[in-house]
Amino acid sequence: MKSIKVNGGKKLNGTIRIDGSKNSSLPIICLALVPDKAVINNVPNNEDVLKMIKIVSSLGSKVEYKDNTLYVDNENLKTGDVKNELAKEIRGSYYLMGALINKFNEVKIASPGGCIIGKRPINFHVDAFQKIGIEVIENENDIILKKGKFKKVQINFEKPSVGATINVLFSLIKNDFETILTNISIEPEVIEVIEVLKKIGVKIELINRTLKIKGTKIVKDFKHTINSDRIETGTYLALGSLLGNIKIERPNIIDNILVIDKIMEYGAEINIGSTITIKENEFKHIKIITEEYPGFPTDLQQIFSVLMLKGNGTIVENIFSNRFNSHLELQKFGANIEVINNLALINKSELRPAEVNCTDLRGGMSLVMAALLIEGESVINKVELIERGYPDFVNKLKKIGADIEYIN
Ligand code: EPU
Repeated sequence: MKSIKVNGGKKLNGTIRIDGSKNSSLPIICLALVPDKAVINNVPNNEDVLKMIKIVSSLGSKVEYKDNTLYVDNENLKTGDVKNELAKEIRGSYYLMGALINKFNEVKIASPGGCIIGKRPINFHVDAFQKIGIEVIENENDIILKKGKFKKVQINFEKPSVGATINVLFSLIKNDFETILTNISIEPEVIEVIEVLKKIGVKIELINRTLKIKGTKIVKDFKHTINSDRIETGTYLALGSLLGNIKIERPNIIDNILVIDKIMEYGAEINIGSTITIKENEFKHIKIITEEYPGFPTDLQQIFSVLMLKGNGTIVENIFSNRFNSHLELQKFGANIEVINNLALINKSELRPAEVNCTDLRGGMSLVMAALLIEGESVINKVELIERGYPDFVNKLKKIGADIEYIN
């Protein structure tokens, strides 16, 4: 277990640079296994991505990761049997199913892990694979896919799912039939993956949440630069609106319009150009309802909860049932929060330092933000959960004046 000590209550001032998107990198690294070669720039060095890189190299591909660029050469890609234990630890490992079935008649992989934020089934992935003509055998600890004959089908997702949309698109890369997918997820990470699928030769047309895809027999090599992480951008924007005068370099603005609106509604002073500068101002009441994109992202709900401790607010969480676990930890700081099913009522609170435990990636970061806000010394345990998705977060925060350090 890793822990940090935060001596909070200090104003922050300086520049933060945003890394590439974690949730785009994970699928695009898996996609890199399909052509002969791929080069991916701006790959963030967070723990989930580093684990994914290790898994990919354990399959035989030659992988080099240097200065945030990943080079993948699949000449020696030998197996679709993903034996690497790390696959159990990250959610995104399920993208190996859709990617590897293009190369092997059989793919075997551990059931995916990921943050504990509520029920995270993969039934949409499995149902769609079976419809397409891929046999799926689910055991207690792993999943086996067997390639069959492609069927000409139309697939309607019960609700939009980032993972299922991308995985099913991957499984159709070499399908000659035109397949129609309806009610797909249109999160920016899905749109970015579609951009890369087009680069390798897959034909895709997208109108609203309906997509037509026709695969390709010849898969072209690709080069791609990962977009800036919209959730990391939103997190540091929220921090700036609470504590300081922060300049954000390489922000993802385009995918954060609603988030920026909320920050303005909260009362922060914000200047948007190619960088964003943000200053705290008056704290106002805000209400957040999480929804699929273009709605407010569930991944920023816990982060914005900390803003509400200064200005009151309400959250309705519509994507993951258990994403209020971190709110129980916030209560240790004295946060006045009431959770009723998928609703959290958050009141302006008298906060005090405390020792708390990270519950998940985004919830963990919300605890760091709260500790930065509170005068005195707090300890946050299990910060390895934060390292899953926030590259180098301790140093980034130190650079803008935070008194924060690892204690073991
Ligand atoms: N769902 C099902 N069955 C499925 C798939 C999804 O019922 O087969 C449900 C889920 O339970 C959930 C909803 O559909 O209620 C949406 O889930 P989705 O599949 O979109 O989520 P995911 O692909 O598992 C990704 C991100 C999450 C992010 C969500 C929503 C990755 C690796 N993870 O998860 O990111 O919260 O989309 O945008 O891309 C994070 O970065 O902290 C994180 C948790």
